[in-house]
Amino acid sequence: MPSKGKKRENSKSRASSSISNKQSNPTTRSTAIWSVFKILTAVVAAASAIGYIGIERYLTQGGPFTPWTCSVFGYKCERRYDVSFRGYVDDDYLSAAETFKENFYAGEEVGAAVSAYVDGKLVLDLQGGWQNVEEQIPYTDKTLQVVFSSTKALAAIVVARFVDRGILSYDEKITTYWPEFGQGNKENVTLGDLMLHAAGVGYLDVPIKTAEAEDPERWSYILASQPHNFGGIRTRSYHAQTYGWYINEILQRVANTTVHNVAMDELNKQYNIEWNLKPYQLEYDNRIAPFYTGPLLFRATRLLKLVGGPLAFLNAVIHPDNIAAKSLANDLDNISLIDCRRLAARRIESPAASGFTNAHSIAKLAAMMANGGKAIVDGEPDLLSPEGFELSSTPIDPPEIDLLLRKAMPQEKGGWGKFDEVVIDGIEFTGWAGMGGSVFVWNQEYKIGFGYVMNAIPSWQSPDNRSVGILRQIVNEVLKKNKNRKQ
Ligand SMILES: *[C@@H]1O[C@H](CO)[C@@H](O)[C@H](O)[C@H]1NC(C)=O
Ligand SMILES: *[C@@H]1O[C@H](CO)[C@@H](O)[C@H](O)[C@H]1NC(C)=O
Ligand SMILES: *[C@@H]1O[C@H](CO)[C@@H](O)[C@H](O)[C@H]1NC(C)=O
Ligand SMILES: *[C@@H]1O[C@H](CO)[C@@H](O)[C@H](O)[C@H]1NC(C)=O
Repeated sequence: MPSKGKKRENSKSRASSSISNKQSNPTTRSTAIWSVFKILTAVVAAASAIGYIGIERYLTQGGPFTPWTCSVFGYKCERRYDVSFRGYVDDDYLSAAETFKENFYAGEEVGAAVSAYVDGKLVLDLQGGWQNVEEQIPYTDKTLQVVFSSTKALAAIVVARFVDRGILSYDEKITTYWPEFGQGNKENVTLGDLMLHAAGVGYLDVPIKTAEAEDPERWSYILASQPHNFGGIRTRSYHAQTYGWYINEILQRVANTTVHNVAMDELNKQYNIEWNLKPYQLEYDNRIAPFYTGPLLFRATRLLKLVGGPLAFLNAVIHPDNIAAKSLANDLDNISLIDCRRLAARRIESPAASGFTNAHSIAKLAAMMANGGKAIVDGEPDLLSPEGFELSSTPIDPPEIDLLLRKAMPQEKGGWGKFDEVVIDGIEFTGWAGMGGSVFVWNQEYKIGFGYVMNAIPSWQSPDNRSVGILRQIVNEVLKKNKNRKQ
């Protein structure tokens, strides 16, 4: 048998050699192909390695708004520091101002503003960078910034003022103010349910068209006829967009007003601040900051990190949450508030998201909330009475799990809440935050009111490290002062 095997081998090699003799030199040719393949492999491997190192450097040596030449090659890094700042900072809070500036140097900001009150005193009010990079308009105290869901804190304060005056009650059914609302299993829903995102109207089955949104009767009809999202069973599920529309319908009925009108006619005048929920007039064109979302690679990387890695992301794609998609989708056709400079986006009032304001206007309202609703400037009226403040600030115990946010959100009766992200040295802050990073929070114990707005959206996380980093410096200083005072 072995001899046979050998024979076969021999005959094979003979055969192949005879073929090779006929067709000139395939061994050399395959060697040549192999060499080219090896070189190609080496080139691809080297390119991949360099590319990988480049991408690594790009993603880690600076933020999404650092010039890529600087991240990858360390070239033109001086541009990173080419940012100017304006405003005021109390000498004791220089470290907070420094952190604000560091956010720019780290490539995490384009234009931003921060403002803080401690004990009723303004300690920080800074703006930096660009309102509009292309048009080279600096970010100033005149800049108007969309703060998305931070607007909900304003809307909740406005409602609290009506409750304070006895015009509204959290425990009252919405049908008391708006009988048509009682359709589709919504007859028992209270104002308090709405303020806590538990009114069962987190999304609309029939999206509203822009033209309908500008027709008050049609608008009101659509909102009233929406059936309860959960068949009448009280369920907490974030009313991302609809929150403010329903609040406005109630305010229209009890006081012929809206959150925008209260802000314009009362708050802005009484407190020398600026909130505008539909600045569609020409005069605002050059004051509104467009958004900058940063390069796709950064956004994708940070989104993956935020959702817990590629597998978690895939899982989310395969099992999309219907409620989340419906509630977060923009219900008005063609209007995305990200395109906040477009007239279409500026015409429709949305007290859940369309607040155009600045950091100081947020911080001043927050400072009064930190002061139990009382005014912080002599001669100005109180924001809320002590009783009104106490009622609206009653904690909801235990915190309810939100179907959309998929976590328990500690909240107070008036509608504002506490974010895990904004707990510093065990000190909690109350208020709300907006998509992309804006923050509207206060702490009553240490009397801190804080506002942060920006036009750069480097990730989907909110609040993020930019604002929390600044607030941490403020808290450190306040704690230090309190300790010294006690000694
Ligand atoms: C509203 O409350 C009434 C009285 O308690 C009850 O009979 C009715 O079923 C409730 N409606 C819904 C949709 O839960
Ligand atoms: C309601 O307010 C509008 C202005 O926002 C005014 O034109 C209208 O007359 C008011 N209606 C009533 C009934 O007061
Ligand atoms: C929305 O956009 C589409 C396509 O761009 C356009 O045909 C349509 O008229 C727009 N609708 C409104 C209400 O602007
Ligand atoms: C934010 O800062 C904290 C503490 O400084 C750090 O642990 C965390 O990784 C930072 N997060 C991001 C997204 O940079």
